[in-house]
Amino acid sequence: MSVGASQNTLVLEPASVEDVPAITALWFDAFTQPAIGELFPDTPAMRAWNESWHRGDMETRPYQKYLRVIDTASTDEQGRPRLAAFGKWDLAMPEERGRRFSWWCEDSPYQDCEDLIDGLEQERKRVMGDQKHYYLDTVGTHPDYQRRGAASLIVKWGCDLADRNGVGAYVDASKEGAPLYQKFGFVDYGPPGSGIASMARSKE
Ligand SMILES: CC(C)(COP(=O)(O)OP(=O)(O)OC[C@H]1O[C@@H](n2cnc3c(N)ncnc32)[C@H](O)[C@@H]1OP(=O)(O)O)[C@@H](O)C(=O)NCCC(=O)NCCS
Repeated sequence: MSVGASQNTLVLEPASVEDVPAITALWFDAFTQPAIGELFPDTPAMRAWNESWHRGDMETRPYQKYLRVIDTASTDEQGRPRLAAFGKWDLAMPEERGRRFSWWCEDSPYQDCEDLIDGLEQERKRVMGDQKHYYLDTVGTHPDYQRRGAASLIVKWGCDLADRNGVGAYVDASKEGAPLYQKFGFVDYGPPGSGIASMARSKE
């Protein structure tokens, strides 16, 4: 489990359902912001919900591309290459996808979750309108691997695809995550003072 690897041992690959347990474990290690913990507390039921979210989307939403960044110099308890980061690019427009989350865990405050996601969806619609774009749904890097370029590999993957296909890109970003996206040409169009950045990148 040692991490003494340099950045060039980090490799970007497609993720599969076999990665779901590691993705969920990483999610809870990375998303430690108090506001997120209020909506998604770290309980056994919530971990099961998180796994079912990722597994369900992988199995039923082929337009959602899950990516993993592994450390080829380190293995986890199962002897698999250690997961350093994961991300999910959604190539569908909101209308094609439908509800982002089909259900909430019983340990989540239902209405608060609905209100958060409704607000994010409205911002996305306000900023992007009907312009075709890809949506960076989630990206997280394990704290042991942060600031080593893992998330950048994931963001770049989607931006390159968007450029090849002549479409835009969008992410609802934490203020902490915003500098990462700015590096790839995203601009914050969110209202001043908002805790969440509504970041868009035009087609090239
Ligand atoms: C945000 C996050 C995904 C960044 O992952 P990462 O693998 O560390 O990112 P990278 O190493 O590719 O960083 C790329 C650039 O992003 C910016 N950046 C990354 N982490 C940063 C931080 N903590 N503070 C300020 N800028 C940061 C920097 O510009 C950085 O470039 P630099 O290291 O050359 O200065 C990671 O910190 C994380 O998982 N945070 C918790 C979950 C989360 O908030 N996810 C994103 C929601 S929008």
